[in-house]
Amino acid sequence: MAALTMNRTWRKFFDEMKEFIWNPKTREFMGRTGSSWALIIIFYLVFYAVLSGIFALCLFVMLQTIDENYPKYEDRLLNPGLMIRPNIQSLQITFNGQNSTWQQYVDGIDSALQGYDQFTQQQRGINCAFQDYFKQDNITAPKQACQFTRDLLGSCSGLNDTSYGYANGMPCVLIKMNRVVSFIPRIIPGFSNTSITINCTAKNDNLLGSRVYFPSTSQGLGSIDLKYYPYYGNRAQPNYTQPFVAVQFLNLTQNIDHQVECFVNAANIITNDDRDKFQGRVCFTLQYKS
Ligand SMILES: *[C@@H]1O[C@H](CO)[C@@H](O)[C@H](O)[C@H]1NC(C)=O
Ligand SMILES: *[C@@H]1O[C@H](CO)[C@@H](O)[C@H](O)[C@H]1NC(C)=O
Ligand SMILES: *[C@@H]1O[C@H](CO)[C@@H](O)[C@H](O)[C@H]1NC(C)=O
Ligand SMILES: *[C@@H]1O[C@H](CO)[C@@H](O)[C@H](O)[C@H]1NC(C)=O
Ligand SMILES: *[C@@H]1O[C@H](CO)[C@@H](O)[C@H](O)[C@H]1NC(C)=O
Ligand SMILES: *[C@@H]1O[C@H](CO)[C@@H](O)[C@H](O)[C@H]1NC(C)=O
Ligand SMILES: *[C@@H]1O[C@H](CO)[C@@H](O)[C@H](O)[C@H]1NC(C)=O
Repeated sequence: MAALTMNRTWRKFFDEMKEFIWNPKTREFMGRTGSSWALIIIFYLVFYAVLSGIFALCLFVMLQTIDENYPKYEDRLLNPGLMIRPNIQSLQITFNGQNSTWQQYVDGIDSALQGYDQFTQQQRGINCAFQDYFKQDNITAPKQACQFTRDLLGSCSGLNDTSYGYANGMPCVLIKMNRVVSFIPRIIPGFSNTSITINCTAKNDNLLGSRVYFPSTSQGLGSIDLKYYPYYGNRAQPNYTQPFVAVQFLNLTQNIDHQVECFVNAANIITNDDRDKFQGRVCFTLQYKS
């Protein structure tokens, strides 16, 4: 009895459903006649067309206010940070005489210096003989770029020593300053009048031993020439080559963690922000095991 009631209820439901989908008496499809459906479809077509039109107009107006070559909002990155290559997450370089311990660092430097060979640089950049900012204010895009060839990195260039010094315990580390569009670093005249400088120290500086920088100033500090600034952004200056400073540690005391801190000396770059230890400086740990 219960099953029969159920059956009847179901049948009624399906009949109503069928009639709702197609009612032959009133010729209605899902409760509407053909002309009603046509009207409603036309209404929505027009409605969405107008809506997309308004959206496109807004987007167009917004895009008019944007300069393709320069970020519209810049609130954080005005003080450039430093980074090292090889790019290792832990910022810890530990190695010994065996190549298996340092091959990863050599690979990291190799990949950082891809495109820094003479041939590529001659294709992409110009040979900037001057010693000043390379301002290209004329509206000539794309902007030119100064060459930075790897031979400027001396014994850290990988040209003579493909292990970048790691094979004989005198490791090279590359330091780069992050790009900030239109940033003009200011010199400190006591150090150099044609470049900003880079210096690396350690908590216990004597144990870190002597070190050399490439390229370097006459006082032996790492040097980034002013001609690599300003940077006009990837779109305006696609051939820009980021300069590096290589520091080579020549006489590391073995088997201790050297807490190395490298910082940039420029009049307008902060290096002592306690909350952000990568502002104008970079710290890493270096250990040469016996
Ligand atoms: C280390 O050097 C040996 C001999 O020169 C070579 O066979 C081996 O492939 C090198 N290992 C790595 C990780 O490069
Ligand atoms: C950028 O480099 C390409 C070759 O990679 C070169 O053809 C082009 O002229 C360069 N552009 C500028 C502005 O120097
Ligand atoms: C800009 O370019 C024009 C010609 O294209 C040249 O006469 C002028 O000296 C340039 N200005 C600067 C600042 O380089
Ligand atoms: C590489 O070695 C050659 C000969 O020993 C030397 O003349 C040259 O200056 C060296 N190059 C670099 C970049 O150190
Ligand atoms: C920079 O220039 C000033 C003045 O021209 C000069 O006194 C100073 O010695 C120069 N500094 C360096 C490092 O050459
Ligand atoms: C660079 O570091 C050395 C220690 O290696 C220190 O004696 C020197 O004063 C530093 N120079 C600058 C400009 O900070
Ligand atoms: C290397 O450092 C040690 C002390 O750590 C020192 O006695 C030695 O003279 C240094 N060697 C060179 C070549 O500077």
